[in-house]
Amino acid sequence: MTKILIIDDDESTRETLRMYLAEVGYSTFAAANGAEGLDLWKRESPDLIVSDVNLPDANGLEIMARMKESDPNMPVIIITAFDDMKSTIAAMQKGAYDYLEKPIDINRLKISIQRALENRLMSERLAAFLPDEIADHELNDTLIGKSTGMREIYKKIGQTTNTRVTVLVQGESGTGKELIAKIIHYSGVTKNQPFVAVNCSALTETLLESELFGHVRGAFTDAIRDKKGKFELAGEGTVFLDEISEMSESLQVKLLRVLQELEFERVGGETSIPVRARIIAATNRNLEELVRTGRFREDLYYRLSVFTIHIPPLRERKDDVEALVVHLLNKINLKIHRSVRKIGDGVMDMLKNHDWRGNVRELENALTQAVVLSRGDVLEKETIILRSNDGAFKNQLEVGIWTLEEVEKSYIKIILDKMDWNIARSCVSLGISKPTIYRKIQAYGLKRDA
Ligand SMILES: Nc1ncnc2c1ncn2[C@@H]1O[C@H](COP(=O)(O)OP(=O)(O)OP(=O)(O)O)[C@@H](O)[C@H]1O
Ligand SMILES: [Mg+2]
Repeated sequence: MTKILIIDDDESTRETLRMYLAEVGYSTFAAANGAEGLDLWKRESPDLIVSDVNLPDANGLEIMARMKESDPNMPVIIITAFDDMKSTIAAMQKGAYDYLEKPIDINRLKISIQRALENRLMSERLAAFLPDEIADHELNDTLIGKSTGMREIYKKIGQTTNTRVTVLVQGESGTGKELIAKIIHYSGVTKNQPFVAVNCSALTETLLESELFGHVRGAFTDAIRDKKGKFELAGEGTVFLDEISEMSESLQVKLLRVLQELEFERVGGETSIPVRARIIAATNRNLEELVRTGRFREDLYYRLSVFTIHIPPLRERKDDVEALVVHLLNKINLKIHRSVRKIGDGVMDMLKNHDWRGNVRELENALTQAVVLSRGDVLEKETIILRSNDGAFKNQLEVGIWTLEEVEKSYIKIILDKMDWNIARSCVSLGISKPTIYRKIQAYGLKRDA
């Protein structure tokens, strides 16, 4: 019989809980304070704990921590009257399986207990999917994938690293263009020199020009002193020109000159400055097409595309998904101090079959969200939110007819449903406060499905 230990100083709460849980068929024990709780825990080795936070002799979270030291997978459900976002987050971070507010909704408690027990069984059944933790730098600077497409990319990177040839990296959003640029930089002759990135779509034309080439004092109103541009700052390193397709016509001409003559002047300056940096450009648009339609200069395109690396979208290299999941989970665990190392049933197939419009970045985001929502050490299917789960959501997003409000409304609803309308947990997941979520539920008229 499944044993549940209840720790609460309020007698009527203890008795009510015992009664309801006994009805479901659990065998229950009750303690009125922390010391008694620890005592019963040692004597009875229960399968699950339900504990209040404010106990006369201790804090429920400390009691939980003591128990978890000897049994890290012990499911603990925390109950409290003092519910606020901070204590909810603290409880979840310390490994509580769930966090419920008083007055206790008994149905919610039952569901939570059932899930916690199932989660523990699943965790005991599954072997660890992830290897032991690996070093930080390996997680951020490694390119993962053994698909044919990725193998071609490794070869190409290898061909570029001992030269200073200009490289053009093409690929959909989130395929790893910046990562590849960094790997080229850090594995070649440039590795001890600066890597300087410029996003060509983020600045106005004038600002971008001064960002790239620098300016002399008095070149324009705000130019109160001389400033070096990225080409100078990069020295013999790399200038990474991201979103190159967004560069204006006149800057395209100036960049072409840099590539041809290997020199430039600061804005407003007269002295020619030699360029020694290697250039890596990236784009998620089809540059050839832009050349054909006259929106990108053909001569610049030829200069930039001497050596092109094309990254195939993730949906065309599904073989890489599994290795990426392992890698990204390691990275996420380290970043948000969790230890999700097992993969629930059906999760890998679901991930392999998704179309990943946002590529590796979308996979990373989906996994981060799932790790945040997962309790215990198993990546559960229920915690994974894929855009195409909801056809309408996805299609409408793609044609761009949703307002931000509509997206917010439908996302809040998705999270509330995932969390069984547990307000405290939904707030943690959405990163908003309780008053805010209540306001939004009311404003959007959100309701729990019958
Ligand atoms: N093959 C891969 N192996 C490991 N991590 C990857 C891989 N590809 C991408 N990533 C990771 O995915 C995320 C997105 O990659 P990155 O920023 O390089 O993409 P991008 O192509 O520049 O995207 P965008 O077009 O949106 O700027 C990063 O966290 C990166 O580390
Ligand atoms: Mg990028």
